[in-house]
Amino acid sequence: MIVHTAPTRTDALFPDRVAHAQWTGSALLLECANGMQLRISALPNHTFRLQFRPDRHWAPDFSYAVDGSTEDQPAANADAVRISANAAPAEDQPTGAAPTAESPAESPDRWTWSTPLATLTVWKEALAFELRSPDGALMLQSDRGFRAAPDLENGGHTCELGLASTKNERFYGLGDKAGRLNLKDQRFVHWNTDAFRYQVDTDPLYKTLPFYIGLRDGQAYGVFLDHTAPTAFDFGAGRPDAVDLHVEGDEMNLYLFAGPGPVDVVRRYTRLTGRTPLPPMWALGLHQSKWGYASHEEVVGIAATFRALQIPCDALYLDIDYMDRYRVFTWDSQRFPQPRQTVQALAEFGIKTVAILDPGIAVQPDDPAYQEGIERDYFCRTADGSLFAGRVWPGMCHFPDFTHPDVRAWWSNRVARFVADSGLDGLWNDMNEPAVMDVPTKTLPAGVRHHLDGHPGSHRKAHNAYGMQMARATFEGLQAHAPQKRPFVLTRAAYSGTQRYASTWTGDNTASWEHLAAANRQVQRLNLSGMGFAGSDIGGFIEQPDAELFLRWVQLGSFHPYCRIHSSGHHGDQEPWSFGADILDHVRRHLETRMTLLPYFYTAFWQQAQDGTPVVLPLVAEDPSDVQTHHRENEFRVGPHVLVAPVVTQGARQQRAYLPSGTWYQWEENHPFAGREEYGVDAPLESVPVFVRAGACIPRYPVQLHVHEKSIDCLRLDVYLPHHDGTVSSFGYFDAGDGGPDAPFALHRWNLAKSPQGWSLRQDRSGSYTPDFTQVEIRWYGADAGFAGTVLCDGEQVVPSRHAAAWTVRVPVGFQHVEVHRSSEAE
Ligand code: GLC
Repeated sequence: MIVHTAPTRTDALFPDRVAHAQWTGSALLLECANGMQLRISALPNHTFRLQFRPDRHWAPDFSYAVDGSTEDQPAANADAVRISANAAPAEDQPTGAAPTAESPAESPDRWTWSTPLATLTVWKEALAFELRSPDGALMLQSDRGFRAAPDLENGGHTCELGLASTKNERFYGLGDKAGRLNLKDQRFVHWNTDAFRYQVDTDPLYKTLPFYIGLRDGQAYGVFLDHTAPTAFDFGAGRPDAVDLHVEGDEMNLYLFAGPGPVDVVRRYTRLTGRTPLPPMWALGLHQSKWGYASHEEVVGIAATFRALQIPCDALYLDIDYMDRYRVFTWDSQRFPQPRQTVQALAEFGIKTVAILDPGIAVQPDDPAYQEGIERDYFCRTADGSLFAGRVWPGMCHFPDFTHPDVRAWWSNRVARFVADSGLDGLWNDMNEPAVMDVPTKTLPAGVRHHLDGHPGSHRKAHNAYGMQMARATFEGLQAHAPQKRPFVLTRAAYSGTQRYASTWTGDNTASWEHLAAANRQVQRLNLSGMGFAGSDIGGFIEQPDAELFLRWVQLGSFHPYCRIHSSGHHGDQEPWSFGADILDHVRRHLETRMTLLPYFYTAFWQQAQDGTPVVLPLVAEDPSDVQTHHRENEFRVGPHVLVAPVVTQGARQQRAYLPSGTWYQWEENHPFAGREEYGVDAPLESVPVFVRAGACIPRYPVQLHVHEKSIDCLRLDVYLPHHDGTVSSFGYFDAGDGGPDAPFALHRWNLAKSPQGWSLRQDRSGSYTPDFTQVEIRWYGADAGFAGTVLCDGEQVVPSRHAAAWTVRVPVGFQHVEVHRSSEAE
């Protein structure tokens, strides 16, 4: 790995005074007396772009991260953003024409751009700049500012930016880093790496998401360095109370996002880099995988066992053993003689099949993918024109140049044919950093050439985007095969924007308690970094968990957006039944709970697709004004209203849980807890502490063994009675569970509020989809056990009954208003 970033190079050149300024219509171009340049533009959505260049030779503008097509969806969105406790202020409602400040105001010593949420000032001296919030608070300020140094090893320059920081400033983001959530006092580099057996302090890992959120005095801002070349971020490790950003390249391409909350910043970042489209609903069920499922009989046997033991499961994975000598787009003719029949056999159990595809193409003259790649010259070549070959699972391989549009089209085409022939439901892109075995660099040499979509460059520049472009080609292949279905792709490597194409997992972790805690942090961090469809190898990939660790990991993973049990079979079995009957019962129950929460999860995914709200969030994003949340790493929010406090310590049967502001209930219980307090909660082995926001409505389905197992005639709505004045909105998004972008949907909004006599629930519905369910079973928590009041549904009295801790009524799906009047005796 080749990031040589002394925090400050002694041979750096600094910009001096601005000598010329030119307004180009969309950007202000500044040139200093010593030739250094800065281009500044204000983009929609309170986002600023600063491009620094030490000379005048600007390269054409090109980015794999920026997605020109992402708009915040106006339909229902303006309401939907209010789901979050950190709702954007009214003037920021994404109506497609968010306020911008395209042209700056000039004064003798500076230029200023203002939007209702941020002010950017750039001084005429030394290209110094600062970002302030509307109340004048300083969010970000250059101190050493921009500088550049000649890159004596690679040619060109390295660019740096020094920013002032404060003692209490916090930093969050940067993708899959496994250490503490707050990045302060640490230094990180980005170079996608096959990090087998990584530890919590290993850096870099598999992904490059060079975006972070800064938090100063409760207000957030964001910084994104759009560079696929190696970058380094130093949050005070090199210089106390400063941030140094470093890029190996001739330009520094920086985006600044206004807050005010962390969630607002993530939304702006994903408005720029794109959002995760709504996946097919089956992708939210349990995925079962193992490196070691090696024959038709074995996978069908696994599927049959899931069903015999009544364990929910939606997808089974085929790791490299399905292939003929590990060659992509092939099947082993002995072990999987009839791929279609394998996929069909799993389909009969209601289980989808996902198969792995690595990038390397075996150097084997009889291999059709090899032949085509050679004939069309699609494989990466070194600077002097030789084909590069490196060792991966099939032996020596060539690597398609996924940064070439023709190569992606070829791969997409092969994907489409492969899926058409086999019936596969989804694909898993692995080893796409790209990983090469037996060489110290673990990847292609830096000098390998790439097309980079018409901006030719070396592997140093293409490396971090390689996996993303493979995932993109795979996604497009699935889309071409079935335009009316939503592609499911899983990728290990990523660059900013990959969320448009793929879900992700945290790579080759270890079955240890330390890694369980790390998985919790990593999934929160990936969500804060725009890649919300994320999970870890449940149980740990390397080594074997004991029963307790496995169960605790299922408890965590079943609340993660992507939920997959995966392991290296060399270390032993890790199916739900591998740890004895008691553990199996508990695992089943947790997976059943996840299945009941499908409409809640699905709605959170829809929300993420609409406006970029992550599915999972750390507490700091829930209430950044509360300093206690800044260091909490264990509790996390999933969807708008549920808070999980997983147990990640061996032997623990109690869990400390900090509840942020508001009032919270324990899962399916009646007793309210005040927020801004820490509680000790019982957490016997079979349970995980979960809390729900007072005022929330949580849509639920009956238990199913897989998505669409049952026709659902009644939606369950868990209602947690409000404790404060005001209305809490919850949403339910329903559609056929798959389908193209124009598939019909139904959006239900539930507004819950206290009323003088009790409480009131109003429902409104929009959209043209008609869900199967014709009834809603409302269960309310938080009422007295001796409740003896009156329930009115659209003015008609209905009789409630008791169900465990809840009171419940059944009402027609089209209800508009349910009112509950407590009787005077009950008060
Ligand atoms: C890599 C992947 C792992 C997979 C294995 C074999 O190590 O990270 O998930 O099982 O390769 O394909």
